Amino acid sequence: MPVPLLDLNAQNLPLEGELKSAFERVLKSGHFILGPEVQKFEAEIASFTGAKHAIGISSGTDAILLALMALDIQPGDEVLCPTYTFFATAGCVARLGAVPLFVDALPETFNLDLADATKKITPRTKAIIPVHLFGQCAGMDAVMDLANAHKLAVIEDAAQSLGARYKGRGAGTIGTFGTYSFFPSKNLGGLGDGGLLVTNDDVLAERALLLRTHGSKPKYYHKYVGGNFRLDALQAAFLRVKLPHYNEYTASRRANAAYYTEKLSKVAGVVLGGDYKQTDVNGTKLVLPVEKTECDHIWNQYTLRVPNGKRDQLKEFLTKQGIGTEIYYPVPMHKQACFSYVDQAESCPVASQLADEALSIPIYPELAPAQRDEVVGALMTFLKRE
Ligand SMILES: Cc1ncc(COP(=O)(O)O)c(C=O)c1O
Repeated sequence: MPVPLLDLNAQNLPLEGELKSAFERVLKSGHFILGPEVQKFEAEIASFTGAKHAIGISSGTDAILLALMALDIQPGDEVLCPTYTFFATAGCVARLGAVPLFVDALPETFNLDLADATKKITPRTKAIIPVHLFGQCAGMDAVMDLANAHKLAVIEDAAQSLGARYKGRGAGTIGTFGTYSFFPSKNLGGLGDGGLLVTNDDVLAERALLLRTHGSKPKYYHKYVGGNFRLDALQAAFLRVKLPHYNEYTASRRANAAYYTEKLSKVAGVVLGGDYKQTDVNGTKLVLPVEKTECDHIWNQYTLRVPNGKRDQLKEFLTKQGIGTEIYYPVPMHKQACFSYVDQAESCPVASQLADEALSIPIYPELAPAQRDEVVGALMTFLKRE
């Protein structure tokens, strides 16, 4: 039985009737950009996350860019961001002429290493972007301590972590700004691009709202140079159909993760992330991801580590069995050609190792029990062979 990495139709088609009604509602309203659908969606997300202001944005990438613009990040300013992330985090910093300071990753959670961030701060550093990778929050107490000590703004990139919690607080609501993505593969996936920005700061919210539409208020009077960062009414309407199901989706993802961990942790050579020592690679064949006690993980990805140079072999083996996998991420930001001007070539050894070892397996909510067993069985067969 094939097991794709993700099956969007399995989630969207059962909602076909409701999605079509949402389409018709927007079609008949004649209101396609922002408007009541977007306002309602913003209110629903504000209430879901616990943020004071929620601002619908064209994509998760644009939400990060807009947050940086609202904070007035200027050319030559420095922004701390993880090297082990999706490109958008660092790309937005560079698009404003600011310099991304790449921070190494923690081997257990893939999230940013605050000790390394502390070492890299300079007097030009203005902000930090903790990314809540794969559905689990970065260590926000340490992030906020560092930010408060050095007067840094904090943009939480929660593209992969809507609804995740850190010590009971919603991902994205702890820092100065939080950003989310509704790219179709995200836990709340739209039928196209979409994103959102949250903040508890009234002044910054007002500024972000202006910047979302070319910095103008009233129309044709421009206080700032902004852009077109608006969310479509159609996407908001589709996302409003899916949001009421979100807690069920998360519960299923959590159940899938628990199942994998329970089955696989009993296999010889498999260890949990926290028990794996960087140097003890010999006996270990597979490292499982962990949920930290202070976090509620939403499992956007279930990402294994495959030591000893075996990752690509495992990927190939699973592909032959019809099981979808993906490498998030093969090249950390500090090794990207476009950032070769940032002088940090070998400064992030853990992220480099993770890039060689990471492999994400299917975790989507609609995964059938038989499909999960297929994945577990294939992994066991591979481990026995090795
Ligand atoms: C960590 C992270 N940041 C930012 C983004 C950008 O979001 P979008 O694709 O909606 O622009 C993504 C998703 O692709 C992401 O995973």
